Amino acid sequence: MSTVHITGYHEANKSLSLPDLKQSLYDEGAVLMDRVLVTLHGEEHRVRRLLEMRIFKKDFFNYYSEQVLPPVINQAVAYYQRKGSADLMEFGPRAMIALTADFAGIDRPLGTDAEADTLIGILKALGLAATLGQFTGDREPIKETVRATLRQFDEQFFTASVARRRALIAGLKDGTHTEEQLPRDILTVLLRNEDRVDLPRDMILRETAFYFLAGAHTSVHSLTHAMHEMFTWAEHHPEDRARLKTDPLFVQRCVHESMRLHPSSPVVQRRALCPVHLPSGDDAAVDDTVVIDLFKANRQVAVFGEDAAEFNPYRVLPAIQPPYGLTFGVGIHTCLGRELAAGVVPKADTDPLKHQYGTVTSLALALIAANARPDPNRPARREPNIAREAWASYPIVLGA
Ligand code: HEM
Repeated sequence: MSTVHITGYHEANKSLSLPDLKQSLYDEGAVLMDRVLVTLHGEEHRVRRLLEMRIFKKDFFNYYSEQVLPPVINQAVAYYQRKGSADLMEFGPRAMIALTADFAGIDRPLGTDAEADTLIGILKALGLAATLGQFTGDREPIKETVRATLRQFDEQFFTASVARRRALIAGLKDGTHTEEQLPRDILTVLLRNEDRVDLPRDMILRETAFYFLAGAHTSVHSLTHAMHEMFTWAEHHPEDRARLKTDPLFVQRCVHESMRLHPSSPVVQRRALCPVHLPSGDDAAVDDTVVIDLFKANRQVAVFGEDAAEFNPYRVLPAIQPPYGLTFGVGIHTCLGRELAAGVVPKADTDPLKHQYGTVTSLALALIAANARPDPNRPARREPNIAREAWASYPIVLGA
């Protein structure tokens, strides 16, 4: 069995839609990832994806950006404003666990900082499962940590969240509740359909935990990179400092450009189910691994220009070219949370007051409004032991 690497943008784009390549990045992380949406294939994947996409009904994004986002962002910013400083690698998880818990369907009945700390701990431990494939040491202790964390997640959050939703769903059936009273989250969608699709309880537990994880980790990574790029840009382009404070569409453009340069999954990985002739011209035999390098594809000069490896929020691209490149994947497993995280790509006539900015830009705008800037006394640090470029710590100060 060998490994084929794909680095070209168009080749990567086409390969992501090939039905004979099956997800394999999370094979080692089955303790959490077994049969969750991103690891399913074929008909089973199609049915589950269609089911979960029901959450995005017509007005979902308005509801999310008007009702869910503002209180969560205000609470997270206020928490750190009281302190006058923050670490983006702590701010991000504190804001994101609330958002992805709501989206996944995990209730936070207390709403306290201590409860948020517990969920942040759970998020960190579950995150170990997603990167087990890249871990070279003894994996068993890590798997045990993930198992124990899933049990904690179940006992402290999942069981009660299920019970509340079951009661509401029963109320819908006997007419004591209306559709509008049901939460708009993945857990509710799954519980309402568990008889129609093969969804045992442990499967629903893992799927809910996966959503909680998938949305948060990726967004924290994207937010920290984007803030760093904007801080650096403002330092070298003082003429744009005011623009970052007054032009939210420009901030979203900065976020998309940063997402292109720093995809939170730098590679995706597939296994060939049969001999496949790849768009790159390579051939993959049965069980060969195909690594699709989003990081390199997103920096292709032929697609993004001579300065493709640099941050340039003024980059001009054809209208059909997503500014964030392949960061959210394409094809069969395209990210379900893309619009939530990145918002809508603006057009020339977009009204900034009615625009859908997405979670990452909304968080960035709140930080900019709070006058966030790098802490001059505590330099940011990169994560030394991770293959992808990641921040270990990014201290900032807030306020005047
Ligand atoms: C900046 C933020 C995000 C990035 C960069 C990102 C990136 C990705 C990528 C690259 C994939 C495809 C993986 C593959 O092809 O193997 C993916 C899939 C997925 N993402 Fe995201 N994601 C983000 C945020 C979110 C959020 C906020 C949610 C949910 C609330 C989410 C839910 C999912 C799900 C459910 C899938 C699996 C889709 C499927 O297999 O059909 N993501 N994401």
